[in-house]
Formats: sequence, structure tokens, C-alpha cells
Amino acid sequence: MSKWALVLVSFLSSLYLSNAYKVLFISPLPSKSHSILGEGVLNHLSRAGHEVTYIASIIPEKPIKGVSVIDVSDSVKLPTGMMNLKSIMDKTQSNDLFNMMPALMNMSRNTINNDGVKTLLSDKTKQFDVIIAEWMFNEVYAGFSGVFNCPLIWLSTIEPHWMVLQLVDEIPNPSYNVDSLSSNVPPLTFSQRLLELGLQIFGKLIQIFYTSGVEQEIYENHFVPHIRNRGYPVQPIEELKYNVSLVLSNSHVSMGVATRLPPNFIPIGGYHIDPVVKPLPKDLQNIMDNAKHGIIYFSMGSNLRSQHFPTEVKQELLNMFAELKQTVLWKFEEDLPNLPNNVHILKWAPQQSILAHKKCLLFITHGGLLSTTESIHFGVPIIGIPVFADQFVNVARGVKKGFAKKVDLSYTMAKDLRVAIQEMIHESRYMTKIKELSFIYHHRTVSPGQELVHWVEHVIKTGGARHLRTPALMTPWYQKVYLDLAIILLIIIIAIKYIFRYICCSNGNKVSASYKKKQN
Ligand SMILES: *[C@@H]1O[C@H](CO)[C@@H](O)[C@H](O)[C@H]1NC(C)=O
Ligand SMILES: *[C@@H]1O[C@H](CO)[C@@H](O)[C@H](O)[C@H]1NC(C)=O
Repeated sequence: MSKWALVLVSFLSSLYLSNAYKVLFISPLPSKSHSILGEGVLNHLSRAGHEVTYIASIIPEKPIKGVSVIDVSDSVKLPTGMMNLKSIMDKTQSNDLFNMMPALMNMSRNTINNDGVKTLLSDKTKQFDVIIAEWMFNEVYAGFSGVFNCPLIWLSTIEPHWMVLQLVDEIPNPSYNVDSLSSNVPPLTFSQRLLELGLQIFGKLIQIFYTSGVEQEIYENHFVPHIRNRGYPVQPIEELKYNVSLVLSNSHVSMGVATRLPPNFIPIGGYHIDPVVKPLPKDLQNIMDNAKHGIIYFSMGSNLRSQHFPTEVKQELLNMFAELKQTVLWKFEEDLPNLPNNVHILKWAPQQSILAHKKCLLFITHGGLLSTTESIHFGVPIIGIPVFADQFVNVARGVKKGFAKKVDLSYTMAKDLRVAIQEMIHESRYMTKIKELSFIYHHRTVSPGQELVHWVEHVIKTGGARHLRTPALMTPWYQKVYLDLAIILLIIIIAIKYIFRYICCSNGNKVSASYKKKQN
């Protein structure tokens, strides 16, 4: 009996082992929200029994089973002051493509140049079954798939847009697919369509004249020697870039715009949210349970700090909150003097557990994608105060969908916020809308976490999921618009014209020649 049990155990464990894959996951952006997305990936892969090597600059607080970390925080730093609310309000800094692309390129280079990463690259005993890399405005990490000679999956942290779609399909039409940095929401007006076309052309020019050159240089210096060292064929980086197996996209149609996607583009928005809500700390649970008129939760996220609001703005916000009947939970990093009775400061806020509480009526947020995802997941309408990056478009989409109101970041925002709060509390349509979207969000065949694991395993088990690649990727643009046919038709038309002219003229010559003969 015990012998059979032993056989069974060893059989089961061999099954288990044969299903444990080795994954290299590159997500070095030193930003809290990106690390939350990163840890979501780690948790799902770890629970599925896989081993992950994680290149990151924010390390998980608790070790995760099967995960080993290569810490690149020494090499990768955000430019200082980038996330300061006051300097953004005073417009002393900007965040356009011109500054962002080189900074992100630098980050990629510094990651690859990190000692731990270099050791990994040169260690010939290291093998991976798949590489997952966070897409951040360049494709230089495609070099990793050359070094380890295995399939590559991009993790795209925002809604589908042309820069990632072009890697697995074709560039979508800008008249109804907006740029990742744009805050337009389709249907677009004439001037918006013009702007989107301009953004696409501008972005493409930057890719052609800046990004691809730097990528080439980084690839040659930092990847090619390792590829040679391992004896694998050295492919051009352009080849590796368009040889992606899959894109996992932190998006879902309930939050964004319905976009045509190729079969290897998988939306998994919401995967970072644990289906089991953690219990609230006792004191917070008490405050929320006893809030007679409901709760308003206010948080500017983990990168921005409410602390950096100008002093007068903080005071006006407090005065305005004091007049409300509702209880306000404000995620704030320091103690505030003269706090009104209905306002509670949270230095650390268990956001998902707060949003999950049935008394939570309204969420005032910067509109980051994680916060808007959580608001739909838990069905709490939002007031968005967007500050940078995709926050503008997330809030704009929320406004268009009807579950959000926008308030501009400004020195008079307390006044605008009061108006917005009154409207959202007194009109039920915002709550109705968010409940509708929340239903759509949850009504999927499987959870986004299961989807994530399934598709990563699918790529590995099918040797790179070549069957999912659309032929659109391999068809050159001139063939798509039938330029070759147009040229052939043109040649035929010209040829026919010449033939006719030749026949006519030579007949005419003969006629006139015979006429001349007669005359003589
Ligand atoms: C790029 O990174 C290096 C090393 O961290 C740093 O010294 C340099 O200033 C950065 N350059 C840009 C343009 O961000
Ligand atoms: C593209 O990736 C697949 C695996 O996903 C691999 O078999 C193939 O060799 C790669 N092609 C090139 C040109 O790198």
C-alpha cells in the first residue's frame, strides 16, 4: 500500500515538475504601480508552479515561492522631481515624447548594463522557456530572446495602441485608434483626427530616426557578444522585434474602447487584483461601518504624494471636506493640523479593501490605470484629477462612459471638487453606470489571472505560438494597398497606348505613302 502511495506521489510530482517552466520577467521601471503589475504576474506564475527570474528595481516585500530577483535599483533611477505634484501644477516640468523616449531608452540600457543582468546573460547554464518583458516605448529587450533563443511575450501596461499593435499586427487607423499619450476618445472630431494622424507620423519618425538607431547600438554592444558566446544565430534586431509570440495587455473592453485585436493580443486587465479581498484593519473597518452618510475615498496614488500639494490647496481641501456630511478617507503621507471630525488621514491605505466596502460611494483619484481598473472592479464611481501620462485618457474615457467626472489640477481645485462631489453624490446615474460596467468587467469566461497563466503556458507548449501570427505582419505595406497591382496596370495602360499609337501611325504612314505613289 505504502509502496503504491510512493509511486503515485512520485508520478504526480514528476507531472508537476514537467509542468514547471522557467520564465525570465523583465520589468525594471522604478514606479510603484508598475511593480504592482509586476508582482501580479509573479503571483499568478508562482501559484501555477513556475520558476521566475525577475529583473526589477522594486523588490517584492515578501519573497514569492519560485521567484528569484535580480535587483537593478542601483542602475535604474527615475529623474528626480518627476513625480512632484507642486512642480507639475506650477508647470515647471513637462512630460512629452521628446523627454520621455530618451529617458526610457536610458533606463533600458542601464538595466541591460547592470552587473547582475550581465552575469545572467553570460552564464551559459541559464536557460529559459519564455521571456516576458514590459513594453516601455522601445523594443530593445527583444535582444533577450536572441540570447536565450526562446519566445518573447510583451506585457503592455496600458490600453492597446498603435506602437504595440504594430509589433504583432499592423498600425491601426488613427481616425479611431488614439495614440497612447493622447487623451482623445473616439468618435473623433476633424481636428482630433488630424492630431491623431500627426501623433502617429511624429511617433513613427522618432522610431525611425532615433529609437531604432539606439536599439541597434545597444543590441550590438550588449546582446550580440552573448548570442555568439552561446553559439546561437545572430538575427538582426529588426527580425527579433517582429518575432514576438504574444502581447499580454493590462486592459479590458469594459474600461477602454472596443479595439480590433489580432489573436495573439490578450487583454488581461484586472489580473493584479486578488479575487479574495483582504480584511480592513480594525480601526478603519469601524470608521467605514459607522459612516452614516457613506465614505469618500481620496488618494493621488503611490507615485504622487498629496503631501506635495501647495499648503493653501491642502487647507482649502480640508475646509471643503469639513462641510460634507460624508466621511472622507484621505491617503496622505503626513499628519495635518486641525483635522475636521469627518476627515481621516491614512498614511497607508488598503485601497482595494476600502473600495470593496459597501459604504464607499466615491473615489477621488489621479486616474491611473490601476485605480480606474479597481474602481470598475469594485463598482465605485470616480472623480479624476489627472496629472501625467495615461491618466488624462483614463479619466476622459471614464467621463465618456459616464462613471467619472474630471477636475483639473489647479490652485482652485477645492472649489471645482466641491461641485463635482455634490453632483456625483446626488445623481444616481454615475453609480448605475459603474455597476453596469462592473458587471461587464466580471462577466468573462475565466479570470484574467487564469488567462495570463494559460497564454504563457500556451506559448511555451507550442514553441512560440507561431499559429497565432497574423499574415498582416508579414505583408509589406505596398502589397496591402496593392501598389504593385497599380504599377502593373499603369504599365499595361501605357503599353496599350503605345501599341495603338504605333499601329495607327504606321497605318497612317502606309496610307500616305500609297497616296503619294498614286500622285506620282
Ligand atoms: C542615463 O543614465 C546614466 C546612468 O544612470 C546617467 O548618468 C545619465 O545622466 C542618464 N542620461 C539621461 C539622458 O537620462
Ligand atoms: C522566432 O521565434 C521562434 C520561437 O518563438 C523561433 O523558433 C524562431 O527561430 C524565431 N525566428 C527568428 C528569425 O528569430
